[in-house]
Amino acid sequence: MIKLIKSTFYKEKQTKKRLINFINKAEQLSIGRECKKFEESFAKWQERKYCVMVNSGSSANLAIVQALLNLGKIKKGDNIGFSVVTWSTNVMPLIQLGLNPIPIDIELDTLNVSSEKLLEVLKKYSIKMLFLTNLLGFCDDIEKIAKICKEKNIILIEDNCESLGTVYKGKKLGNFGFASTFSFYVGHHLSTIEGGAVCTNNSELETMLQMVRAHGWDRNLTEKKQLKIRIKHNVNSTFYSRYTFYDLGYNLRTTEINGFIGNEQLKYINEIVNKRKDNFFKLATPIYNNKDKYYLVKYEHIDLLSNFAVPVVCKSKEIRDQLVEKCKDKIEIRPIVGGDMVAQPFFKKYMPDFINNFNNSNARLVHEQGLYFGNHPELTAKEIKEIIKVFTE
Ligand SMILES: Cc1ncc(COP(=O)(O)O)c(C=O)c1O
Repeated sequence: MIKLIKSTFYKEKQTKKRLINFINKAEQLSIGRECKKFEESFAKWQERKYCVMVNSGSSANLAIVQALLNLGKIKKGDNIGFSVVTWSTNVMPLIQLGLNPIPIDIELDTLNVSSEKLLEVLKKYSIKMLFLTNLLGFCDDIEKIAKICKEKNIILIEDNCESLGTVYKGKKLGNFGFASTFSFYVGHHLSTIEGGAVCTNNSELETMLQMVRAHGWDRNLTEKKQLKIRIKHNVNSTFYSRYTFYDLGYNLRTTEINGFIGNEQLKYINEIVNKRKDNFFKLATPIYNNKDKYYLVKYEHIDLLSNFAVPVVCKSKEIRDQLVEKCKDKIEIRPIVGGDMVAQPFFKKYMPDFINNFNNSNARLVHEQGLYFGNHPELTAKEIKEIIKVFTE
């Protein structure tokens, strides 16, 4: 069976050995130096000023929405656009925190929201923030989306949990908006087992994210920032300062174990991205060539394509169902991400009035006729051959 996920980390044996050694010697395993080091290194690699590490991509999504609310950049009841094909915990924080999630359909040939789809929605709704998902390493014309957002005062946040490393028009995905979120879950590009992060160039947002991540207190801030917030709130006793809660937060902290693994895996990040890119081309070229069976997913506009799965959208449900049968016990497959979010039970339960207002026909098609299999750096030539055979026969 060719599994979606092959190993917990890249170079698993080596990484585990080093991890055991680290744990044996470590004086502290709760969030500390390793996490800080990871934040600095990851921000540098991503070409962003700041990175706040949390315990999952879902937590990163929750943290960014809460931080924007705390800062008053969005308010309860605001309309927030989101890519309708995404992951549940991209939309859920919007509902949980009292915002109005406005679905935006994707393009069939890029699997992503385009400026055109955004403009269609903007004809009917004004939105305060766009939570754009860069789906499966691909993107549409995100620089145009960013331009529209700028002109219309829409805060652009990228959910980049699936597209770490992709470069479009010379810029890494995750660097087009005000902030971006990342997942370091096993099976994503860079694994810390569980983990996530928010990246931004905005210092005020970084500070708020650090408080949202840990109870709403100021303990993880720099001394200068602590002093500033304590003066603002008249907190002048060290007895109370450690237990003063300034804004709404959670406990989304990660651990030194995840920080250490992140630092180890970051050594290989470019190697990981390049291997995934090479595998994608080996797999996608012969498979997408079957134009009578599959829709073509466009990627020529992307400078460097980095994904962890190869999506296949079939021309009919029958073709998809046949593939599901053919892959049984051979290749592990699954629906494309979370499919059409509007069709998910949670969305119908909490947003019943929205269901009939949006015609997300491409998302529906992807939901009903799509699937994906894994693309990891350790795929062998034999496995690649086997996958191509099943999908092209
Ligand atoms: C687009 C997207 N956002 C967020 C997440 C959540 O990440 P995590 O599994 O680390 O919570 C995922 C997970 O696969 C995802 O695909």
